[in-house]
Amino acid sequence: MSTASFPEGFEWGVSTSAFQIEGATNIDGRGPSIWDTFSVDRVETCDHYHRYQEDVRLMRDLGLRAYRFSVSWPRIFPGGGGKPNPAGLDFYDRLVDELVAAGIRPYATLYHWDLPQALEDQGGWPSRDTALRFADYAAAVYARLGDRVRTWFTLNEPWVAAFLGYGAGIHAPGRTSAAEAFKSAHHMLLGHGLAVRALREAGAAETGVVLNLSPVVTPAQVSDPGRRASEEDAVAVARIDTLVNRQFLEPILRGAYPEELLPVIERHGGLGHIEDGDLETIGQPIDLLGVNYYTPLVVQAQPSEPADPAYPGSEGVLFCTVPTAVTAMGWPIVPGCLSRLLRRLTREYPGQELMITENGADFVDVVTGDGIHDVDRISFIEEHLRALRAAIDEGANVRGYLAWTLLDNLEWVDGYQRKFGLVHVDFATQRRRLKDSALWYRDVVRRNGLAQTRPKRPTLETVAARAGVSRATVSRVVNGESSVSPEVRAAVMQAVNELGYVPNLAARSLVTRRTNAIALVLSVPRQGGGDALTAAVVQYVTSFLEGAGKQITLMLADTAESHRRIVAHVEARLADGVVLLPPDRADTLAERLSRTGVPVVLLGKPEIASLVPYVDADNAGGAAAATEHLLERGRRRIGMVCGPMDLVFVQDRLAGHRAALQRAGLQPHLAPAEDLTRAAGADAVRRLLADDPALDAVFAATDQLAIGAMRALREAGRRVPDDVAVVGFDDIDAASATTPALTTVRVPVADQALALARLLLSRLEGRHTTSVVLPARLVERESA
Ligand code: FCB
Repeated sequence: MSTASFPEGFEWGVSTSAFQIEGATNIDGRGPSIWDTFSVDRVETCDHYHRYQEDVRLMRDLGLRAYRFSVSWPRIFPGGGGKPNPAGLDFYDRLVDELVAAGIRPYATLYHWDLPQALEDQGGWPSRDTALRFADYAAAVYARLGDRVRTWFTLNEPWVAAFLGYGAGIHAPGRTSAAEAFKSAHHMLLGHGLAVRALREAGAAETGVVLNLSPVVTPAQVSDPGRRASEEDAVAVARIDTLVNRQFLEPILRGAYPEELLPVIERHGGLGHIEDGDLETIGQPIDLLGVNYYTPLVVQAQPSEPADPAYPGSEGVLFCTVPTAVTAMGWPIVPGCLSRLLRRLTREYPGQELMITENGADFVDVVTGDGIHDVDRISFIEEHLRALRAAIDEGANVRGYLAWTLLDNLEWVDGYQRKFGLVHVDFATQRRRLKDSALWYRDVVRRNGLAQTRPKRPTLETVAARAGVSRATVSRVVNGESSVSPEVRAAVMQAVNELGYVPNLAARSLVTRRTNAIALVLSVPRQGGGDALTAAVVQYVTSFLEGAGKQITLMLADTAESHRRIVAHVEARLADGVVLLPPDRADTLAERLSRTGVPVVLLGKPEIASLVPYVDADNAGGAAAATEHLLERGRRRIGMVCGPMDLVFVQDRLAGHRAALQRAGLQPHLAPAEDLTRAAGADAVRRLLADDPALDAVFAATDQLAIGAMRALREAGRRVPDDVAVVGFDDIDAASATTPALTTVRVPVADQALALARLLLSRLEGRHTTSVVLPARLVERESA
């Protein structure tokens, strides 16, 4: 088979980090780190500390040649300073020996975010002393491992550690100060420089750093990279690029901060912490630049936008959601931005050797009897490898590719729900299981490249021919039936893997008597809720799916008994897929259905994000637009009629409303409605009026509530819109028929239905399935 091969000696491997996989936080003298303090999840994670031999064996069996791990600083200096803890060093000593024996080249990262809590207590990264301690720590680790570890990365993603940890407060240690974030960033850079110096003096062969680098693009450039940005958008792009990328690239590789950045730092706490000589230290030559790439940052100019705390100095920049495929993390999948990034680095830093030190994806995995068929993850990595290859062809000097990551692990604040691993981990038993992506990656490594042309979707026939069995046998195997001998099963699975075959409907139906039916499950409609909308979506989804040759079985999920029946129906494979709308709040139906392994898609964001892909309207964005409209009309005493707060879309609409008010410096004034009926809307507005007789506008979470609100306003002698302007949400038919006609936010019903149908069809074919959020636009009528 011809391959899109990579340069000879290209290093294939994986990356991990200590806190995310090691566990064993209380033994052999390890001290607490800021992440032990900050985490709400249990931190035993993969117990790699005790299972490292098994994990190295896994890597060896996958044929990996490189492994980037991080050293846990609090294992080496539990109290931050003093003498290194020998037991801590012993662990890495054993790990490195194991790697070397397995023929895997170790790449060590010294700081992957787990600062000893003791150092945080003494001031943390905003304190200059932490940089000095870091250099001591680097030297101590080098003294023990330097004879076997050639390549030393100082920091991992200092932007994340500084700005999410000390600026936005969403990572450990959870501080929220722009000034401290900039100080931390500088001290991390300084720590990097001091450590590089110490490592070199001690004889290290190679030093480097790992940065999170994200191309910054406008929404239009996501799909059309050549598109020119408007002048204002170009300013927004440059501002974020300076904060995220250039703030780190330029001091390290050029020995200077970008000029535009200095006034920003100055405005946030001053420049006093940047001492003479620091930039010289920071700018010492390094050998290898580690590039972590996951997704671009998408921004545009929006003059009224306040700064995002993670990006101090980002006033006037809006971070945008774009309608592209996303991972379960919600990160847009844009492989082309990896080529773009590498091209840029090659242009700006010619000759600098690069390595992809992280790239990978979180998707919802379904564990089936015959494995974990994580086709989404495979496509993600494959597409990024193609993008990488293209950049190498154009001259990028890239040494290797390290996938993030070996094992499902503890994904920082997101805990265990995120699945980035090539290897599945059952956290109850610590059993490791290779996902299809691991097997696929093994083949990539083995042939040093990708299959040149992706074979046209291999068919059941091709697999049967390759394995020398009948089509029915292939079907039996891929459907996990037990009536097949182990030898035949092995032969079929080998053919399946070699060909990259994704079992499809037709193949399965051969033995499972699949009906080509889709279950359309309606959970209990809320009284007075968006029934009209639901009905419209049902109608559209049905016609789209029927158009694709499916039969629709409508099922009503209104009682516990009906839930049981529906799950049994799906478990019996009487449906090939399920569309569930709308997922009800504390309901577990979506989860139970998804566990059957049958593809499920949801209408509406579920309460627990990311279990199952969903389609939703941009509720927060629509509510913000509605509120901004009222503000633009000069309204200042705006009340919101909320719906029941347990409904996810109500929460999102409230969040958008709140955000828009906050930007205008106003406080929200809320009246929760008991349910979504007009009567409840009327009732809520009476309460708003009682609190504030001078109320001049109402934003209602739904049109039904808005219509009730208008009635109550009229009864109270208020004119709409003269005295009180009203905006609703949904754009149901009745909205244009009221007097005055209701200004509202349109939920794109047909688009949602189309997206739902597409999502389900893709899932059935084993293609990318990621949630879709569609824009919700304001429809201006007379009421506001
Ligand atoms: C990177 C981190 C890594 C992991 C991935 C998903 O930012 O370096 O530890 O969390 O993201």
